[in-house]
Amino acid sequence: MRVLIALVIRLFRKILHPFELHLIRLDERSVDPDPIKQFQQWYRQAIRARFYLAESMALVTASRDGVPSARMVLLKKVDSRGFVFYTN
Ligand SMILES: Cc1cc2nc3c(=O)[nH]c(=O)nc-3n(C[C@H](O)[C@H](O)[C@H](O)COP(=O)(O)O)c2cc1C
Repeated sequence: MRVLIALVIRLFRKILHPFELHLIRLDERSVDPDPIKQFQQWYRQAIRARFYLAESMALVTASRDGVPSARMVLLKKVDSRGFVFYTN
């Protein structure tokens, strides 16, 4: 019986894991001061949660006068020097 309960709990954890990501509160005090390290942590979580096309993301920039511009891109690589995206 215990084994069955443990299996059911494991199954539910597996199913709910991607949704748990949405329940984590974003708090400035608990994020890494290095935004790239923080991104890598979130990216690893997304990959571990088997998000479909986790490497696809919206790249958003703003002009000097604050006009935003967004474009969907695929991430090729990320390291301490920054991000490399695929480009056409
Ligand atoms: C999921 C997804 C991933 C994409 N990845 C890239 C990409 O890595 N590089 C790229 O140049 N365009 C990518 N595109 C297409 C661009 O987002 C954009 O739609 C396309 O380049 C045309 O935009 P433009 O008319 O502003 O040039 C992607 C689109 C989607 C929906």
